[in-house]
Amino acid sequence: MADSELESPERRIKALSAEIQRHNAAYYQNDRPEVSDAEYDGLLRELRALEEQHPEFQRPESPTQRVGAPVVGTGFATAPHKTPMLSLDNAMDADELRAFDQRIRRMLGRDDPLDYVAEPKLDGSGVELVYRDGRFSHGLTRGDGRVGEDVSANLREIPSIPERLSHPGNPPPEFLSVRGEVVLPLEAFQNLNAGRRTRQEAFQKLNAGRRAPGLEPFANPRNAAAGSLRQIHDIDHNRLRSLEFRAYALAEGAPPGSTTQWENLEALGNWGFLVSPECRTCRGLESVMDFYEELLAGRSALDVEIDGAVIKVNRLDLQDSLGSLSRSPRWAIAYKFPPEQARTRVEEIDVQVGRTGALTPVAKLEPVRVGGVTVSNATLHNQDEINRKDIRIGDTVVIQRAGDVIPQIVRVLLKEREERLQAGHRLKPYSLPEACPICGGSTIRLDGESVTRCPNLDCPAQLKNNLRHLAGRGALDVDGLGEKIVDQLVESGLVGRLSDLFALEVEALQGLERMGEKSAANLVASLASARETSLPRFLIAMGIPHVGSTMAELLAGEFGDLDPLMAASAGEIEKIEGVGTVIAESVVRFFGDDGNTDEVNRLRALGVRWAPAQPVKIDSSGALAGLSFVLTGTLSSPRPDFKRRIEAAGGKVLGSLSQKTRFLVAGENPGSKLQKAQRLGVEVLDEAGLEALF
Ligand code: IVH
Repeated sequence: MADSELESPERRIKALSAEIQRHNAAYYQNDRPEVSDAEYDGLLRELRALEEQHPEFQRPESPTQRVGAPVVGTGFATAPHKTPMLSLDNAMDADELRAFDQRIRRMLGRDDPLDYVAEPKLDGSGVELVYRDGRFSHGLTRGDGRVGEDVSANLREIPSIPERLSHPGNPPPEFLSVRGEVVLPLEAFQNLNAGRRTRQEAFQKLNAGRRAPGLEPFANPRNAAAGSLRQIHDIDHNRLRSLEFRAYALAEGAPPGSTTQWENLEALGNWGFLVSPECRTCRGLESVMDFYEELLAGRSALDVEIDGAVIKVNRLDLQDSLGSLSRSPRWAIAYKFPPEQARTRVEEIDVQVGRTGALTPVAKLEPVRVGGVTVSNATLHNQDEINRKDIRIGDTVVIQRAGDVIPQIVRVLLKEREERLQAGHRLKPYSLPEACPICGGSTIRLDGESVTRCPNLDCPAQLKNNLRHLAGRGALDVDGLGEKIVDQLVESGLVGRLSDLFALEVEALQGLERMGEKSAANLVASLASARETSLPRFLIAMGIPHVGSTMAELLAGEFGDLDPLMAASAGEIEKIEGVGTVIAESVVRFFGDDGNTDEVNRLRALGVRWAPAQPVKIDSSGALAGLSFVLTGTLSSPRPDFKRRIEAAGGKVLGSLSQKTRFLVAGENPGSKLQKAQRLGVEVLDEAGLEALF
């Protein structure tokens, strides 16, 4: 940072200490961090490096010497930890991990590879649980590492915290201090935030748009876990019951005969604690690296959030001889995953107009690397989202890429905005345009809807997107109808609505840019073969909101042909298993529109056709009678074939997973359904497994 170079080391150390202390309070006391972990780590590293260079300016109360934040005025009673709850030093890359291994082997005077225990680094809230004579006595948050808050009453409600320890043949010592992490599993986190959003909307309706601070969604599962654990008024017991405690260390009271961390973990498991099943023993550094890679690759399938691996020397006597620094032990290190957050600048806000006329604002960012990829766009969803986060062109923002989801803006860095304003830049609040950026018509936003739309059905943006969608591989699959040609077709006026596509002739097409006789003839030929389609593909091509491939299959399978579907009521459609109200109403609304039915009829008149689907007869005595299936990933033949065979054998094929689903059949590249099935405990079959059932 430029300003850090100008400051004297002493002043910079002071400024950094103050800033880190402020972040500590936001994180530990208010459960509302203002910076990402990576930014926080960066500040701490800068401070540590400066203090190393200038030890004369290091103060005993420096954040490099302490853990967390003192607990004052939080409403909980406080109590000291018998052994301090330390933090962990971080390794940000393989070199830093190698340095850790070399350092401790040098200290221990050993050339041979060391035995480590490698564990997931759970991203929750660290706590200490004290057991006396095998019974839960009390539990504390970490606090400042020496004194924590007594949250025993809340901890007692967490189902995975045993009140009494089980001990088949191996009684626990009289006094036991178990350390571990309270985490909120991802599904519970999503439910918690969904509930808060719904209640927030209800609150806003009743309070003229005002938002209730207590109903804002939590930024991540860690804050949600910490916030849930430290509830003090109007305690939400369900929230406490959805928390989970995972044990990872014994600070006092090793089981008799235990000489290693691994044996301690085993004892914890035997006494009835949850221990992360991913924990492993590793001989030497290479094996630790393999563990890390595997953990990183499998991260998104886990049901709790982790942010790295923790590597611990396995032998307890070696841990003792290595000892601890004031803030962290020498015998362990956190090997962090690459950050999935970064800061960058919003250069512009572009507005895209979708197939349904919805205006989607997209932030154009100064390109930045996050979690291994370069990001230059982030979706802003809608005007409410922009208002809530108060995102303006020119702002410096924190962006986040979680798993494979589209990058999001987490928040604006207001200090940077202030500086830019003072430097004379104008950063005005942003509003979506009142005129459609494509056709210039007025945009509208209906009451109770979050979307701003261009209502003009003839808007070229809508038509272009609809054409692209119709030509897509999952729809009518028109070879040779690329983006550029679609643009030209619409802009030249050759295509004014979807069905015009099938009336195109070679001669007219030849008039387009870079379209010779041959390519024109090819396009006409591919349009001709695209006319022969199937009902599900046709339904997808029509772009009915909420109707994707699975839904189209379900509708086609039930109604057999288009006319009965067009005539069906929402009630009739909703009777199909796996089809909800929203979809049923969307279908009815779509076919209730004269413009849409005209298009359907024109397409049919221009030769678009399909063989009626065979309504399926269910064999209630078949091999799969009473079993429900969900299909995902790429299978060796098209999904409808499998669907038909499963149904012919008496089984049911559903569109989405629930706890009631019996099997998930997963092909190649199964995606998120596989993770969901694992979370829900739904049995997963590969194709061979399905064949065996047949
Ligand atoms: S051992 C003295 N093991 O990470 C060693 N900590 O950033 C103390 N954490 O304070 C901790 N997973 O709250 C340990 N498998 C694990 C962990 C873990 C998460 C937390 C813990 C610690 C923090 C340090």
